[in-house]
Amino acid sequence: MLRQQLLERFQVEGIVGSHSRMLAVFDTLQRVSGSHATVLISGENGTGKELIARAIHRHSPRKNGPFVGVSCAALTETLLESELFGHERGAFTGAVSTRKGIFEVASDGTLFLDEIGDISPKLQLDLLRVLDAREFRRVGGSQLIKTDVRILAATNRDLKQLVESGAFRLDLYYRLNVIPVTLPPLRERSTDIPQLAEYFVARACKEAGRSPMPITTEAMRLLLGYDWPGNVRQLDTVLQRAVLLGGRVIDYMDLPIEVRFSALPPREAGGLASAAGAEGAYRYAIPAEGIDLEEVKQKFILQAMEMAGGAIAEAAELLGLSYRTFYYRLMRASGAQADTGQARTG
Ligand SMILES: Nc1ncnc2c1ncn2[C@@H]1O[C@H](COP(=O)(O)OP(=O)(O)OP(=O)(O)O)[C@@H](O)[C@H]1O
Ligand SMILES: [Mg+2]
Repeated sequence: MLRQQLLERFQVEGIVGSHSRMLAVFDTLQRVSGSHATVLISGENGTGKELIARAIHRHSPRKNGPFVGVSCAALTETLLESELFGHERGAFTGAVSTRKGIFEVASDGTLFLDEIGDISPKLQLDLLRVLDAREFRRVGGSQLIKTDVRILAATNRDLKQLVESGAFRLDLYYRLNVIPVTLPPLRERSTDIPQLAEYFVARACKEAGRSPMPITTEAMRLLLGYDWPGNVRQLDTVLQRAVLLGGRVIDYMDLPIEVRFSALPPREAGGLASAAGAEGAYRYAIPAEGIDLEEVKQKFILQAMEMAGGAIAEAAELLGLSYRTFYYRLMRASGAQADTGQARTG
């Protein structure tokens, strides 16, 4: 019952997931939202770190205060310093007027320090001081300014490892890592893919003013089989595109080539054309364990069909074959591959 309640509560807010690792995340959210504790959210790109940070803020006693985010990787050390702490007029070239930093702006609210693993040693020390004393000085200023912010930090890097290699201060790590929340990569919670996919398709249909589009079994099978290096964000983008380009349903042909080809064994998917472009190298590298040339031909036939979007004349031209020769080989190739669904022969 508790799980169901948690699920419902957070699904309302657009955080989809019922894999046990996501339930554990929801559980932690539930516990920490009401407090002022610092939370460190880790996870690969696109796993939903910012989404979680905003949800924590919305459920916190500070929900009526500001939520201010800053990406620590996007700025140079000087700019980030003035972004965080503000500056006095004339503090450096270009500082034409006094400006408040986000530690001031976010007071009584939540400060989201994104990509915290990327900050310089000097700023790590500055940050440590503010977190300890809850007061700071603007760049070029002498007055101490008090701040009352709740810190949420996020990183797609392994902070523990950065600490071990000396790139990140241990004391700052402890300050930030009061409550750790780790978001699993999508490939490690692939049972959530159908639910997420349906959610994104429904949302995209609504936004585009289209009637709901079902996802075919074949397309879903490919979505489930892909490893999603860009995680939930990538799934969202792929499906938004499929909704815009697709017909009445979302079929495998509406998915990008990397998703369609991931259903093939790895050697066939990546090994053949991967050596293209290198100076003096063969254009198509033969893997050490050798290849089956007939199989290679078949793969190229099917790939040409993919690239030509199913147009036989165009696909034939890509391989320098006549329509007839290509068609004949395609029939053979797709016969052999019928169950992978890679060829559209119609
Ligand atoms: N569990 C989820 N349910 C619904 N949508 C999600 C979920 N997780 C992520 N998303 C969506 O995926 C996209 C990426 O999420 P978000 O920006 O929070 O990721 P991130 O971890 O901060 O990524 P990055 O490291 O690249 O900054 C957003 O559009 C977000 O709404
Ligand atoms: Mg982010």
